[in-house]
Amino acid sequence: MAEHIRVLLSEQEVDKRIQEIGDQISKDYAGKEVHLVCVLKGGSFFMCELAKRITVPVSLDFMSVSSYGGETKSSGVVRIVKDLDEPLKDRDVLVIEDIVDSGRTLSYLLDMLRDRGPRSLRLCTLLDKPSRRVVEVDVDYTGFQIPDEFVVGYGLDYAQRYRNLPYIGVVEFDD
Ligand code: IMP
Ligand code: MG
Repeated sequence: MAEHIRVLLSEQEVDKRIQEIGDQISKDYAGKEVHLVCVLKGGSFFMCELAKRITVPVSLDFMSVSSYGGETKSSGVVRIVKDLDEPLKDRDVLVIEDIVDSGRTLSYLLDMLRDRGPRSLRLCTLLDKPSRRVVEVDVDYTGFQIPDEFVVGYGLDYAQRYRNLPYIGVVEFDD
């Protein structure tokens, strides 16, 4: 089936919002060092753009999790595919995600990271679909709240494609 992408948030809108979040994070973490934990692969584009706009010292680490489920939905059972390289003990950790949907992946992940003893643990997501929430998750920084539509771009994929789009779009199927 052929598909096309409808622009939901333009590159300019996304970049502007990332700058605002970067400014806010720089203020909130003044005098501290922030340790960014990127959830691969989706969070990687957002993390790079955000990190460039944070003015306090930044360190980075990456992890990859896979949720058992279909292409477009997650089951909440999370398996660590690649763990972090460094411990989180006594660090100010900010988890960077592409999107919070049901909240299942994040709630599991945050519990696991909290057990590693960070000084603080916060969550920053580019996108949030609040209407889809099944498990409650405290989000500290949100780029955009969006309606319940399947989106791609800026790290988000449909069957591993479209991650490289510099904007957020909705996948629409032609018939
Ligand atoms: P959750 O556990 O339901 O919150 O699922 C979060 C994960 O599902 C995200 O990190 C994405 O990988 C994926 N996901 C959820 N909604 C979308 C979407 O609209 N487009 C692409 N991936 C999505
Ligand atoms: Mg993800």
